[in-house]
Amino acid sequence: MSDAARTAADPRLLAAAKAAFANAYAPYSHFHVGAALHTPDGTLFSGANVENASYGLGRCAEQSAIQGMASSGAREFSSIVVYSESSPPASPCGACRQVLFEFSPEAQVTCVNHLGEVIEGQVKDFLPHGFRLER
Ligand code: THU
Repeated sequence: MSDAARTAADPRLLAAAKAAFANAYAPYSHFHVGAALHTPDGTLFSGANVENASYGLGRCAEQSAIQGMASSGAREFSSIVVYSESSPPASPCGACRQVLFEFSPEAQVTCVNHLGEVIEGQVKDFLPHGFRLER
């Protein structure tokens, strides 16, 4: 994984993650997160965090984006951008790492903020030894 001031992430994904950030529903934490991913054929899905008065029911931005992708029938993504306005940029929580790993351990993850700070690497770098149901 690398920390750098610049990223080669797809500008379309950066824009979509930022747009999703603006739609976050986070009246409890006031912490907005937007995520956008694209599948190998270039189809884009985005999502924001959506909280709930019953706190444990809140959904992270990354999981919202994955739900959209999988619900459309897609089963793989190439890259995901996670946008926040915290420093350092929000990096996927442990649960999100496993949700991302389910579909694409090799995908590129780029966490970026309003200051241009970047944390990036592959899903499998963020979640070494991710769980797979092998029998
Ligand atoms: N959150 C995300 O959406 N993604 C992350 O990577 C980290 C945390 C959300 C969950 C909750 O709505 C808020 O940020 C504060 O934890």
